[in-house]
Amino acid sequence: MGDDDVELEARLAEQDVFEPPSAFAEQANVADEAIYEEFEENWPDCWTGAADLLQWDREYDTVLDDSNPPFYEWFTGGELNASANCLDRHLDDRGDEAAIEWIGEPVDEDDRTYTYAELHREVNEFAAALRDLGVGADDVVTLYMPMVPELPIAMLACARIGAPHSVVFAGFSAEALATRMNAADSEYLVTCDGYYRRGDPLDHLRKANEGLDAVEHPVSDVVVVDRLGPNGDDFGHDLGEGQHDYDDLVAAHAGADVEPVARDAEDMLFLMYTSGTTGQPKGVKHTTGGYLAWAAWTSQAVLDIEPEDTYFCSADIGWITGHSYIVYGPLALGTTTMMYEGTPDHPDRDRLWQIVEEYEATQLYTAPTAIRAFMKWGTEYPDRHDLSSLRLLGTVGEPINPRAWKWYYRHIGNEECPIVDTWWQTETGGMMVTTLPGIKSMKPGSAGPPLPGVDVQIVDTNGDEVEAGRAGYLTVQKPWPGMLRTLYDNDERYVEEYWAEYSDTDSDDPDDWVYFPEDGAKIDEDGYITVLGRVDDVINVSGHRLGTMEIESAIVGVEGVAEAAVVGGDHPVKGEAVYAYVITEDGYDGDDEMRDRIVAGVEDAIGPIARPQQVIFTPELPKTRSGKIMRRLLEDIANGDALGDTSTLRNPEIVEEIRASVQD
Ligand code: WTA
Repeated sequence: MGDDDVELEARLAEQDVFEPPSAFAEQANVADEAIYEEFEENWPDCWTGAADLLQWDREYDTVLDDSNPPFYEWFTGGELNASANCLDRHLDDRGDEAAIEWIGEPVDEDDRTYTYAELHREVNEFAAALRDLGVGADDVVTLYMPMVPELPIAMLACARIGAPHSVVFAGFSAEALATRMNAADSEYLVTCDGYYRRGDPLDHLRKANEGLDAVEHPVSDVVVVDRLGPNGDDFGHDLGEGQHDYDDLVAAHAGADVEPVARDAEDMLFLMYTSGTTGQPKGVKHTTGGYLAWAAWTSQAVLDIEPEDTYFCSADIGWITGHSYIVYGPLALGTTTMMYEGTPDHPDRDRLWQIVEEYEATQLYTAPTAIRAFMKWGTEYPDRHDLSSLRLLGTVGEPINPRAWKWYYRHIGNEECPIVDTWWQTETGGMMVTTLPGIKSMKPGSAGPPLPGVDVQIVDTNGDEVEAGRAGYLTVQKPWPGMLRTLYDNDERYVEEYWAEYSDTDSDDPDDWVYFPEDGAKIDEDGYITVLGRVDDVINVSGHRLGTMEIESAIVGVEGVAEAAVVGGDHPVKGEAVYAYVITEDGYDGDDEMRDRIVAGVEDAIGPIARPQQVIFTPELPKTRSGKIMRRLLEDIANGDALGDTSTLRNPEIVEEIRASVQD
């Protein structure tokens, strides 16, 4: 580093408030601070502006129906179609402009551009194909696909015919696929032969087929995208009965026009399974009107998307971030959205920067775990490229520490881009807490104030607001259009999981209902919220939500395991890593062979993302007198922290024993 650099680093290290760069502020989509007050005074009608970003087949009658909390309904009486909103209405102005820029992992081999007209064409053809297979409105179609363009095409084709989709992350295991298809009673699957990972073709269809074997009801049809061509020949797949080649289906429906089905605003657009406190994933239900309005409005206000932009979100569409901010939000606004198939370090650690430069990306939305990896790799990689096309940077998925924030600000944004640190969840549908980038100062490490019209309070266990600076629980006090409507087929669990904690569940008065996302947080004097992380048994590995119960039940399914407890321990790049404490059955040794079987068991049940970083064999687990496992102590051990109070333990001596074995 030169002297100037050293000086700059020192200045940045000390600075804890950053103003929006003026060049950005001058052109920002939201430029007037009055929006906060206006939305508060005008709530819930303030959300008509979000609804106005959409094209309605039938105007809605009521903005919010809150007569039956917490089963809120938004834009009731309205009708619309999400695929028409993302495609048809842009054809006149944007038909020849790129809707999707898809970048395959192999460099420059088969990148594809879909203009709005081309995307519209293929979505119509595939929608016709699905309909001919018998898919009807309200049939859940499972999409088990990696980052190939046919994934958003399939999503929009489902939306066109009114069939909700349920996307299962391609990195999940066969068993995880089966669990989700069973839970949603889904009879249709769209998947693909394989995809590339760090240069090698990876067999995906084998996993899909194994998953299908474990589906408990008849599956009527499976569509398989041929991603690998001859490079997939070695896998030796032949399509079985009821399996169709995607290209054949689309070719057979060439030129088809499918009238978009008018959906009620409250009709389900999609289901997304996410981890909770029990072993069973939760099917989060999102709707057509409220969700789409929320995705579009936040994309415009927070990501500052304009139709002329080339916007890049590096998430996977298998997670909610990709749904809202690769597919629905950007396409609803008629912009160009980018999709990258591979990892950021293939063929070299500058791959993302090469893509940003080549496509002149205007926004980059990524995760803190990725930023920490970039930071570790060093500045030489971004320095190889011209990143001056970037106008805004964003992060999502977990808290970002100030050091990583400043690295991102300086080395990717060249101090010219605002950073939006966006707090939200699968359940919220879109962003909830973040700065409006043209207006608000940024404080690294703090997500910012709630968005206008979003009523967030940080409360104590009694539900009373905590003072500035004190830690408490993040709550949302009023409903919002993008919210989940329920858990699929399980209204009771919906109330129990998200509302029961702070609501008077016997009341019909919406003021008595409070949404609890299960995150801890604190707030400062300026109303800026710093999210501290989950307070339930969910851990966040590389921005991915994993339930400790899901992992534990996978481990106890392994032969020779008597009991298991899983916690998250700090990890410099992943944020958290999985630590598994395991008690073996008599006659089994906690040896390498057993450890390998446990790791394999977790990968089979969930996928490689849940792979334990450490498996620690122990004769006992620290338990309270009533038999509850003291997870906090296990976390302390994983983190090498001083141990919390052990006085309530039935077996305090075990803690030191476990600690010694971790240090070995
Ligand atoms: C965490 C991802 C701190 C949080 C969109 C939340 C964050 C969970 C942030 C949701 C952020 C997300 N700062 N923590 N900016 N964004 N989280 O459902 O714990 O995969 O509850 O949605 O991620 O994860 P999910």
